[in-house]
Formats: sequence, structure tokens, C-alpha cells
Amino acid sequence: MEKEPRRLVNYATLAICLVLIVLVYATFFQSNDTLIGSWEYRLSNSRSNLSSERINIDADYPQEFLLRRLVRGDDRVRFDFDGFSCHADVHSEVCVANKPVRIYNKGLTVYVYDDQPQVERIVRPYARREDETAMKFVSPVQILHGNSTIRPPAACNFTHNVTAVVFSSKGFTGNVFHEFNEIIIPLFITTRHFRSRLKFVITDFELWWVQKYNRVLSHLSGYDVINPGDGSVHCFPGAVIGLKYHNNLALNITDIPGGYSMFDFKQFLKESYNLKINHVSEIRKPVLMLISRHNSRRFLNEDELVEMMEGLGFRVTRAEPERVSNLDEFAEVVNSCSVMVGAHGAGLTNEIFLPAGAVTVQVVPLAHEWVSTNYFGGPAKAMGVQYLEYKIEPEESSLFDAYGKDHPVITDPETVISKGYYAYRSVYVDGQDLKINIERFKKTLIEAKQILETSTPFDT
Ligand SMILES: *[C@@H]1O[C@H](CO)[C@@H](O)[C@H](O)[C@H]1NC(C)=O
Ligand SMILES: *[C@@H]1O[C@H](CO)[C@@H](O)[C@H](O)[C@H]1NC(C)=O
Ligand SMILES: *[C@@H]1O[C@H](CO)[C@@H](O)[C@H](O)[C@H]1NC(C)=O
Ligand SMILES: *[C@@H]1O[C@H](CO)[C@@H](O)[C@H](O)[C@H]1NC(C)=O
Ligand SMILES: *[C@@H]1O[C@H](CO)[C@@H](O)[C@H](O)[C@H]1NC(C)=O
Repeated sequence: MEKEPRRLVNYATLAICLVLIVLVYATFFQSNDTLIGSWEYRLSNSRSNLSSERINIDADYPQEFLLRRLVRGDDRVRFDFDGFSCHADVHSEVCVANKPVRIYNKGLTVYVYDDQPQVERIVRPYARREDETAMKFVSPVQILHGNSTIRPPAACNFTHNVTAVVFSSKGFTGNVFHEFNEIIIPLFITTRHFRSRLKFVITDFELWWVQKYNRVLSHLSGYDVINPGDGSVHCFPGAVIGLKYHNNLALNITDIPGGYSMFDFKQFLKESYNLKINHVSEIRKPVLMLISRHNSRRFLNEDELVEMMEGLGFRVTRAEPERVSNLDEFAEVVNSCSVMVGAHGAGLTNEIFLPAGAVTVQVVPLAHEWVSTNYFGGPAKAMGVQYLEYKIEPEESSLFDAYGKDHPVITDPETVISKGYYAYRSVYVDGQDLKINIERFKKTLIEAKQILETSTPFDT
């Protein structure tokens, strides 16, 4: 009996508290409304226009869920709350907007409609953030939000009904390693799960690059790519700005977006380039592709090398730079090879088209150990390709004749490396050619042949 009044008092207190809370909130929003009144009108105006853009989206188009796979942890909380979040790591910066955007100014301005104030951002949409030299070629994309003092453009020239994915085709393009490492693989990582329901908006638009990778682009997107360079305004229901990156020529199955490995990427290349050979055992007489370099790290005795290889029973095909540039044809040629031999250099990136169980033989010039292992050696294994390394002796380097056997360039590369990248580069990367010891190299190729002979589809 005694407890009843106390309970009543408690209820009363609770009710008063609730009323107070409601009042405080109402006051807060009221004053907030007044504060933001000056641009609220503009916003609701653009909101109605932008949301009419949204109506065109397929009701089943799950943009939110597709975008959500690109964010984790705190970013996902922010994304769920604001419909927008950005994440930067060492290699790349990626912003994700699950709300209408207007892309204009040659693709270099992205206007995102927001209720919430957001920090305006500059993103350079190329996956080599840590490399100042590469990033100098990449135009910054400015992301403005609904509360910006800059008004969005009044009208859309084009209204699209799938997500935009904005990236730059500059950076280190022109070098096939960088093209795959910083664009093609990151594009796959970022967009494969959209199942072609997206449009690429390419900043720093390079027509030759788009043509070269037409097969990849058209297998990742069901639409033509957009070159926003003509001053038009493109409106989208949402956007990804920048590309996710995992590692050198690598995909990490547990990293964002989850579920894609190098094997999935190889399967994708197989479909895109119509590659026929799955496993090296399908090739009757072993074919060896020799990557022929013309500017640096050349094989000075290439003809002798070819002779020795043919002597071992390989059919040898040389990959000259001109041939490599037509990727649609070249991918198929590589796919019909059993062994790829090359000095460390971008050409070895084509190992990505080799059938499973094939062998990459990398010739490692002086002072190229780390880059050889990290750029091509490790990735080869992850691709199901066997990997052999032939580390040259000082006598096999042109630097040996140029500097003499006792010079620090030969005896202690660290002294050159410690002078910085450009010093290193001019001596070892650009200034070195190779005169291969045929007898010693033959042993490596015999090993490659043995690997092929014992390789069965079940090992890989
Ligand atoms: C999306 O746009 C394409 C043409 O750009 C059109 O064919 C398609 O029907 C549109 N889808 C919806 C759901 O509006
Ligand atoms: C928009 O939001 C940002 C971030 O909160 C703020 O710094 C800026 O002053 C706001 N701009 C306007 C016009 O309210
Ligand atoms: C919204 O659309 C109307 C008519 O379609 C147009 O007059 C107005 O300028 C638009 N506003 C914005 C902010 O785009
Ligand atoms: C885009 O639309 C605006 C306004 O309607 C127009 O003035 C402009 O010429 C259009 N630009 C292009 C490239 O179509
Ligand atoms: C793969 O990604 C996960 C999740 O981000 C990370 O913890 C792991 O270290 C990565 N693995 C490699 C080999 O980088």
C-alpha cells in the first residue's frame, strides 16, 4: 500500500522529464532552423530537384548495400548516419555517397546533397597516394556538401540512374605495371560487386588508355564511360570517388569489399579477354615468352639466350614493346605461354595472363632484389604461377664494365641507394643492361622445364 504514492510520484517526474526533453529538442531545432534559414531554402529547392532524380532509380537497385560494402567500422557508422563517408589509408582515399550528387567542372567538382554539415574535401582519385611524383599528374577532385557557400549547378545536362565511380586515368599510366596496380585491380576491387550497375566518370581523361582497357571497363560497367570534360553537369543517385587498393598486384580476400581474391580477378580477365587456357598442361610444346626490353635492363646477348632456350626444347616468342601495346591480342598470346622470362620491369605484369601452373622467371639486375620480390615474385605465387628468380652476378651487369669491379656501385649499392631514389634510379634502373651468363641461366630454365613437366591441374 505504501508503495503506490511513491510510484505515482515517479510517473509524474518521468512525465515532466519527457515534456522537458521534448521542449529542449523543439527549441534546439527551432533555433537551428532559424540559423540555417538563409541557405535552407536553397537546399530544399535543390533537395526537391535532386530527389526527383532519385525517383528514376530502379526500386530494386540496391545502391546503399553495394556502397556499404566499401565502408567498415567507424566509416560504416558515419555512412549509415550521414549517407556519406570518406576513408584514407597510405595508398588511397575513397569517398562514398549514398545520396544524389552533381558532378561538373570536368569531373573535378562533386556536389553532394547533405542535411548534415560536412567538411569539404579534396580527393585525388588514384591509388598511389604515398607517391608524390605519381600524384602530381592527378587532378584534385573537390567534394562540396549541401551547406556549402558554393551553389550547385542549376540543372543537370545528364541524369543517370546508377552510381558514379570517379577515378583518374593519369598518374603513372603509360607503364603497364602501374596501369594494373593502381587502376585496373583497384577498379575491380571497388566495383566488381556492383555487377555492372555503375558508370565510370574518368577525370584526366586519356582516350588511348580507355581504348587500351576497353575490355576491362566494359566488363565492369554496363554503360559507356563518361568523359566529363565538355563542361556538362552529370547527376547521379550516388557516387564513389577514388579507388580501393590492397597491395602490389594483389587482392586481399578479407579486405574491403570482402570476398575477392586474385583468383577471382584472373577469372574476370579470362572472361574479359576470352582467354582459353586454364592450365599450362593444356599446352603441348612448351612456349617461352621472352620480354624484350629496348631502353634499359636490356639483354645484350638476347639472340644467344633465344638459341639456348630453343636448344632446351622451348618455342620462343619475343614480346617487343609494340606488340605489348595491343592488350586485347597480347593477353591471348601470353595466355598460350608456359614460361615468361624477363628482366625486372613492367613487362612482367603480363604474368597476370599466364595460365595456372606456368612459370615466371625474373632476371634480377643489381640492386633490384626488393622490388623484384615485392612487385612480381610474391604476386606471381598468389596468381597460381610458379616463380623462379635469376639473380645476376656483378659480371653480368653493364655497370661492372662501366665502373670497374671495386667501385661502390658494384660492391656496395647501399651507398648509392642512400643518396635517394633519383640517384638509385639513374644508375641501376635506367643505366643498367645485362649480359647473361648463358650456362648459369640454362640451369634456371632447366628447372622451369622440370616444374612444367611435373605440373598437373591439381597442384594449383
Ligand atoms: C536507367 O537508365 C537507362 C538509360 O540510361 C534506361 O534504359 C533504364 O530503363 C533506366 N532504369 C530505370 C529504372 O529508370
Ligand atoms: C558547412 O559545414 C562545415 C563543416 O561543419 C562548416 O565548417 C561550414 O562553416 C559550414 N558552411 C556553412 C555555409 O554553413
Ligand atoms: C529545380 O528545378 C526547377 C524546375 O525544374 C528550376 O526552376 C530550379 O532552378 C531548380 N533548382 C535547382 C537548385 O536546381
Ligand atoms: C548543359 O546545360 C546548360 C543549361 O541547360 C546549357 O547551357 C549547356 O549548354 C549544357 N551543356 C552541355 C555540354 O550540354
Ligand atoms: C588483408 O586484410 C585484412 C583486413 O583488412 C588485414 O587484417 C590483413 O592484414 C590483410 N592481409 C594482408 C596479407 O595484407
